[in-house]
Amino acid sequence: MQVRLDDAVDLDGFRRRARQLLADGVPPERVEWGVARSDGGEGLFGDAPEQAIAPPTAALQPVPAAFVALCADVILHRDPQRFALLYRLLWRLAHEPALRHDPLDADMMRAQRMAKAVHRDIHKMRAFVRFTQVTDDDGLERHVAWFEPEHRIVEANADFFARRFAQMRWAILTPERCVEWDGHALSFRAGADRREKPPPDAGEQLWLTYYAHIFNPARLKFATMQREMPRRYWHNLPEAALIQPLADAADARSQSMIEAPATPARRIRAPMALHPLPAEGAMPADLGELRAAAHACRACPIGAHATQAVCGEGPLAPRHMLVGEQPGDQEDLAGRPFVGPAGQLLERAMAQLGWAREGVYLANAVKHFKYELRGKRRIHKTPGQREAEACAHWLDAEIALVRPQSLVALGATAARALLGRPVAVQAERGAWLHERADGRPVFVTLHPSALLRLPDAEREAAQARWREELARARDTAPVA
Ligand code: URA
Repeated sequence: MQVRLDDAVDLDGFRRRARQLLADGVPPERVEWGVARSDGGEGLFGDAPEQAIAPPTAALQPVPAAFVALCADVILHRDPQRFALLYRLLWRLAHEPALRHDPLDADMMRAQRMAKAVHRDIHKMRAFVRFTQVTDDDGLERHVAWFEPEHRIVEANADFFARRFAQMRWAILTPERCVEWDGHALSFRAGADRREKPPPDAGEQLWLTYYAHIFNPARLKFATMQREMPRRYWHNLPEAALIQPLADAADARSQSMIEAPATPARRIRAPMALHPLPAEGAMPADLGELRAAAHACRACPIGAHATQAVCGEGPLAPRHMLVGEQPGDQEDLAGRPFVGPAGQLLERAMAQLGWAREGVYLANAVKHFKYELRGKRRIHKTPGQREAEACAHWLDAEIALVRPQSLVALGATAARALLGRPVAVQAERGAWLHERADGRPVFVTLHPSALLRLPDAEREAAQARWREELARARDTAPVA
């Protein structure tokens, strides 16, 4: 019996037909699966009419939810036998109750390996798509990328890119399927030709310069790197051409780094005055107004590129307000502070101390996410002093509206914003400083991102010291 699905990733069609075949008692060896519209390499049945689908005639046993999820993944695999394998598994689940409890079954293991390969490909697409900026005939800017996935994952991955690059117009071209985002909606079309791949732009040259610059020869682990960035992706990655020469020169460069004298410390500039509060009348009436005003703020350029302003969250009149640097990539998308990796580290440390996140007000010195677009990634950039100063009145307004009893500065940007002078965090961490005109004491400690960047060997001890400081800040904050 020939069964024809609409296309190579027709999950609904597969489910409907498989249910019917199962209900009709058609064993897997009697079924030949194919697709009506193939993007290549798939069995085609031409125009032979297919039997109409009747609703299942017998009551069907429900299949485990995990199997339904497995089908959704496996169907994206390029193996032409995937439909046959899944139907055989469905048949066996219905006729061999023990299969549900057999983790070593060969069919099940093969399907799971295929699902894993699809997941890996989805992840690699997220990591290795590199956009190039082009200007359309109508003068509009677009980011276009060429990518060659191993499996049929373009549709499954499209939502991720739409969420991630909601503000840009972009297209990802692949040999079998292309996806476009016009700023509002996704659309799909047939595959493209490699010749449609856009030529390198100025951003690519910048990215290559940056890549060569951050390449640390002392930390090169070639085998690990190749596992993470398999060679099959290299021909579409501009930086791949740099890898071999950089790796070849790694030993010599490490040696010269060891021999080079230490870099002299930079001069610290003279202290600045504390930021004055905005004049009466300019102050937002409440936190909602603050958020709206900060969102619209264009006093510095970063607001124009961020998704939204991220103001703080937490109770009013708390004992502590913790202040970070600026929202990161995930905070920018979620509109909430400290939800990304640094936030999770902070939350874990607080939980270990029995300190509830909900008990403190969490905020940032700078309200918009500053980043640099590198390929598809938005890489955090530390806000410059001009940007921090432009944002200072929003932080001051937030403090005035929230009315915390004390302030905890996480890192140098927050410490400088709260104290109005450059702060050497390592030298001044761990104690209450009484310098603010409003009388609120400020406790300086590390930013969680600084701990995330530490080498593994140092991280644990540094985190333990950091937790001790957080505990001290919690327990010794002056009570009004
Ligand atoms: N880093 C910060 O300083 N703030 C956040 O909200 C997230 C990361």
